[in-house]
Parts: sequence; C-alpha cells; structure tokens
Amino acid sequence: MATLQNKTVVVVGGSSGIGFGVALAALQSLASVVIIASSNASRVSNAVERLKSHKLPGEVRGEVLDARDAVAIKEFAAKIGVVDHVAWTSGDLPPGLLDGTTPGQAFYDGAFTVRFWGPYIFVQSARFHPGGSLTLTSGSLDTKPRPGLSATSGVVAALEGLTKGLAVDLAPVGVRVNVVGSGAIWDHFPSEMKESFDQLVKNSQLIGRLGTPSEIAEAYIFLMKCGYITGQRVNVDGGIALA
Ligand SMILES: NC(=O)c1ccc[n+]([C@@H]2O[C@H](COP(=O)([O-])OP(=O)(O)OC[C@H]3O[C@@H](n4cnc5c(N)ncnc54)[C@H](OP(=O)(O)O)[C@@H]3O)[C@@H](O)[C@H]2O)c1
Repeated sequence: MATLQNKTVVVVGGSSGIGFGVALAALQSLASVVIIASSNASRVSNAVERLKSHKLPGEVRGEVLDARDAVAIKEFAAKIGVVDHVAWTSGDLPPGLLDGTTPGQAFYDGAFTVRFWGPYIFVQSARFHPGGSLTLTSGSLDTKPRPGLSATSGVVAALEGLTKGLAVDLAPVGVRVNVVGSGAIWDHFPSEMKESFDQLVKNSQLIGRLGTPSEIAEAYIFLMKCGYITGQRVNVDGGIALA
C-alpha cells in the first residue's frame, strides 16, 4: 500500500473535528510534514500540541488563517510553499442542525465564503507538486434535505460542482480534486444533544450511529493516495441515501 512518506499535507480546518482527524491520519500514514490552519490561534496551537503528543514521525506545524479573508488566503498559499495534498474542512455546521433555528443570511454568506470561495481562491495561488490533490468537504443535505436547511443543501450541491470544475482546471498540472460527503460526524456537538442525534441517525441511516473523525479521515487519505481518481465525491454518511 502507498503511504504519504515524503509528502507535505495541509489541512485547512485542522484544529478540530474532521480536519483534526485528517491531520492525525496523515501523520499515521507517515506524511513528512502536516500543516494545520484555522482562524483561532489558541485552537491551532492546542491542536498542534495534541497532534505532537501522538509522537508520530512527521513534523507538525500550525498557521493562523481566517478563510473569510481572500488576501490572507493568498498570503497563506505563498507562505506554505509547494505542497502535495490539501484537505479543506473549514466551515461551520448550520445552527439549525443543532437547535432547530433557521440559519440567517449571515450564516450562508459565511458558509459560501469559507467552504466554497475559500478553496477556490486558495488554488489560484497554491503551488502543488505534480501528483498532488485537493479534497473538499460537503455534506448529505443535498442528497437528503431537511426542513429549514434548504440553503445548506445549496451550499453542498455547489461544492460538488466546484469539485468537478476544479478537477478539469487542475488536471493539466497533475493535481486531482475530489470531495468527501460527510454524514453526521460526532466530535463537537454539545454532549447534551448526543441522545437526540443518536435517535435521529438511528432512524435515518443504514448504519444507525454517528460517525467518528477517524472513520471519515480514511476517505481523505484514500483520495490523497490514489492517483487515479479525480472529480469524484466519496460519501461517508452511514448510508443515508438508502435508508
Ligand atoms: N460534522 C458533521 O457532522 C458534518 C456533516 C456535514 C458537513 N460537515 C461540514 O464539514 C466541515 C467540518 O466540520 P467539523 O465537524 O469538522 O467542524 P468543526 O469541528 O467545527 O471544525 C471546523 C473547522 O473549521 C475551522 N474554521 C471555522 N471558521 C473558519 C474560518 N473563518 N477560517 C478558517 N478556519 C475556520 C475551525 O477552526 P477555528 O474555529 O479555529 O477557525 C475548525 O478547525 C464543516 O464545513 C461542516 O459544515 C460536517
């Protein structure tokens, strides 16, 4: 099996949740350098320490990046230099998923800015080694929309279109682009909500439980390592479409 030996892996959104799981899995897959980035400096340094505590061979670095800031994204791309694989997991869950409120315009502006325009702007300035990859993060609400969250269905559907377009744009320079469709991954939901989420997924998925960051990280690592896949969506969602 291939490893990520001698590869530099960047995880934008690596300070928690899915992104932290991807950063750890990259180190476990022997990546030489793992760079995590997100907007909150103390969360970044805390995550770097947690990654280092695993005492895996690769070097771990952290960068502060507010992905709402286009200039900062371009400076970040220039600063990190030539890289191999980038996973983009930055973004927030819609508040309505947790508390039943309808997310407002500001949330959706932020979602498009960070999840859609962020990676688009990044690749305009990023430099990849040939054979590199970019992996985006969508969700399941376009496959299985939920009441009150129609705009999030739009965000994740847009990400699939962006993935295919960027796969075409970057193919000439030997870079693959894919997207992981996330189901309900348990890491940061408030613990008092776990019971109601457990109940929800029990009734709406074939695999009736929440997923873990390490389970979904497998998909990102596969998409980094497999040189023959581009423009594709890999769903890690407990079989939500078939339930
Ligand atoms: N978990 C799920 O069940 C699920 C399901 C479907 C889709 N998703 C999507 O998958 C993505 C990751 O989810 P998650 O569960 O890993 O969430 P998470 O644990 O909240 O992690 C989100 C990451 O994004 C970073 N971030 C937020 N705003 C940012 C900004 N302006 N600039 C740079 N980084 C920013 C956060 O760090 P800072 O706070 O330090 O910036 C954090 O590292 C999200 O887009 C989410 O909508 C998740």
